[in-house]
Amino acid sequence: MRIFSGIQPTGSLHIGNYFGAIKQWLDLQDENDCVFCIVDLHAITVPYDPEKLQKLILEKAIVYLAAGLDPEKVIIFAQSKVKEHSELCWLLNTVTPLGELYRMTQFKDKAKKNEKAGLLNYPVLMAADILLYDTETVPVGEDQKQHVEIARDIARKFNRSFGETFVLPKVKLPKYGARVMSIADPKKKMSKSDPDEKSRISLFDSPEEIRKKLKSAITDTGKTIKYDELKKPGISNLLTIYSLLAEKEIKDVEKEMKGKSYKAFKEEVAELTVLKLEPFRKKRDELSGREVYVREILRRGEEKARVLAESKMDDVRKKMGLR
Ligand code: AMP
Ligand code: TRP
Repeated sequence: MRIFSGIQPTGSLHIGNYFGAIKQWLDLQDENDCVFCIVDLHAITVPYDPEKLQKLILEKAIVYLAAGLDPEKVIIFAQSKVKEHSELCWLLNTVTPLGELYRMTQFKDKAKKNEKAGLLNYPVLMAADILLYDTETVPVGEDQKQHVEIARDIARKFNRSFGETFVLPKVKLPKYGARVMSIADPKKKMSKSDPDEKSRISLFDSPEEIRKKLKSAITDTGKTIKYDELKKPGISNLLTIYSLLAEKEIKDVEKEMKGKSYKAFKEEVAELTVLKLEPFRKKRDELSGREVYVREILRRGEEKARVLAESKMDDVRKKMGLR
């Protein structure tokens, strides 16, 4: 099966990104044809620093590898290096109804007064990413579900107008961890762009940072450690995080933690997080000194992606009467 997914190079990755996206990628990489992209063209739809962009792309490639993606098995590359993404985005814009773009939740959340067209067209570029590789499955977190659905819609519209061209992609959400919440405000999702650093645990936070953040994590009124999203969003989120890290069912974690105070439970979550993130930190430190190697992986990935993308675009141009 062809799998495609991507993460923006800006901001540091947190455990929400790991459980929502990367962990699924790891589970899929052995049995499927996987393409994992660092989506720099998406990252520039909000204000950013051009000086830092290349460094951030390299850093994300290091994260992918540190997390365990195997460059012998999967394609890893930066989106802007394969020009077909931009070209297909433009062509898909011609079949995408504006109204559907305006109703995207992420657009409504991010759009401010002076918003640029790039933010509105963000889902069309994402559709181009996905459709260019005949993708069947898109493993992402819950917040991206709507974007994969619009990609499917766009593919259907294109096929109807120009003949069978694109595979209709399906979203794949993890069973648990599709929406990890902020530890500072469990009503919001954990996010890279949250100005409050204490709201997220980054994959490369030091043990001290992890302990400090979890110590101040928001819990709820009451005393029992029980999963109840509505009445106990804070504790439920911490239970989810613990169960994902420990690879245990939530009900088993509840039993294990029975009788503990919230404070003691948070310490348990902190110690497990420190332990489980340690291999990432080690691998990242090791790879940080191997820039040439990582660049070579990106270059090879880019070459392989380009072959696939060029062949698909030949077909698309023909279907649209452009050659
Ligand atoms: P982003 O941080 O927007 O670049 O997202 C990269 C990937 O992580 C996407 O597949 C998102 O759906 C996923 N993701 C982001 N935040 C979370 C979260 N809080 N919980 C679960 N998945 C997430
Ligand atoms: N929009 C996605 C996010 O912010 C990133 C992304 C871009 C993506 N293109 C994609 C994810 C294609 C899956 C498939 O998380």
